[in-house]
Amino acid sequence: MKINIDFTSKFVKKEEVEKLREKANSENTKLHNKQGKGNDFLGWVDLPVNIEQNLLEDIQKTAIEIAKDIDVMVVIGIGGSYLGAKAVLEALSDNFACLRNDKKFPKIIFAGQNLSQDYYYELREFLEDKKYAITVISKSGTTTEPAVAFRILKKDLEDKYGLEIARKRIIAITDKSRGALKKLADNNGYKCYEIADDIGGRYSVLSPVGLFPVAVAGFDIKKLIEGAKNMYHRTDATKKNNIAEEYAIIRNLLYNKGFTTEILVNYNPKLSFFAEWWKQLYGESEGKEQKGIFPASVNFTTDLHSMGQYIQDGKRNLFETVLSVAEPNHWLTLPANEDDLDGLNYLEGKSIEYINKNAELGTTIAHISGGVPNLKIEIPKLDEFHLGELIYFFEKACGISGYLLDVNPFDQPGVEDYKRNMFILLEKPGFEGLKEKLLS
Ligand code: PA5
Repeated sequence: MKINIDFTSKFVKKEEVEKLREKANSENTKLHNKQGKGNDFLGWVDLPVNIEQNLLEDIQKTAIEIAKDIDVMVVIGIGGSYLGAKAVLEALSDNFACLRNDKKFPKIIFAGQNLSQDYYYELREFLEDKKYAITVISKSGTTTEPAVAFRILKKDLEDKYGLEIARKRIIAITDKSRGALKKLADNNGYKCYEIADDIGGRYSVLSPVGLFPVAVAGFDIKKLIEGAKNMYHRTDATKKNNIAEEYAIIRNLLYNKGFTTEILVNYNPKLSFFAEWWKQLYGESEGKEQKGIFPASVNFTTDLHSMGQYIQDGKRNLFETVLSVAEPNHWLTLPANEDDLDGLNYLEGKSIEYINKNAELGTTIAHISGGVPNLKIEIPKLDEFHLGELIYFFEKACGISGYLLDVNPFDQPGVEDYKRNMFILLEKPGFEGLKEKLLS
């Protein structure tokens, strides 16, 4: 994995980068020594090297066991208890996995990530004739969205299979001692995986939160961790000028020059959900105290035909971070055509990848000329190992970047405001009598 900052040189001077290096390294050191803001939530830093082999094996064994009896695994969770697994699964899966009828591994579908009545109605209908199980993930064990989904689906599962079998088809992933989900799991005897106290939701994808759903889908979680471990060693604070520090430095310099929106760009639809995970990671970590880069994303070349105009020509507060995959998993070339009515014969025999890469380069040059700084992060291939590297890279860079911005990257006080209002409006016990005032 590489980072290329050459295309920011028109906007950020070399001396400015050099000047910030020492500070970035000292912020990285704080992460490793647990000395910075939010230091009780730094369990993710050493997770790739500390995670026990026994745990990985247990996750794999449980996943294989449960996968034998089901067509569908419903994974219930929201935010950090959902986005990581979804991002990894989309990145690794066949583009048409959901439509294929192969029975090798269960299909993974998600719930508890919204409160749409239609979603749950249609999901229940879909599950009616399926053999399924449920993985319910909530660190706090008290989040409304997954709790609503779990109440509905748990009842359906129990009605379908009876209490005894249903209990074996429910896996809970939650805090080790607190919260309603832990109590529910203990009372019902569900298989349970713990989320460590010092690992927050958006930094939890390399814990059972992300690993279990990924293992059920048949992917190699040990390789994912191996990749993360590799990146851990590449970016530990003794490696000065490492790529995580580099990324944090450039985005902070750009932010201070008025580039307040960062767009994560991909040229591979398998990465579109990875961008959703990245947006949560950076948005929830840095967007506080009236500060922070606004994280956005586009899928190219698709969105060149929608957002391309704005990026090229609109308000100049944008910079792009292009996630580029060096090598596709399959090869395909453009066939010959005698008539050449579509005028594509000049590309005959060229791979689709060749066309895509030239679209990427052409776009980068155009956007830089249009005043949009570009960073490029290149991963060799979309596989478990490199995805593990990429995840840890972004987590580490996010911690450093948040410290450079002088915020606590590991809390999310702003998320509580909507919850409080929702509870007042729903007249949850403890929030009674406040509705009129809120509405006025
Ligand atoms: O990053 C976070 O902490 C949040 O996005 C949480 O993951 C999200 O709110 C879900 O919380 P929980 O896992 O407690 O249900």
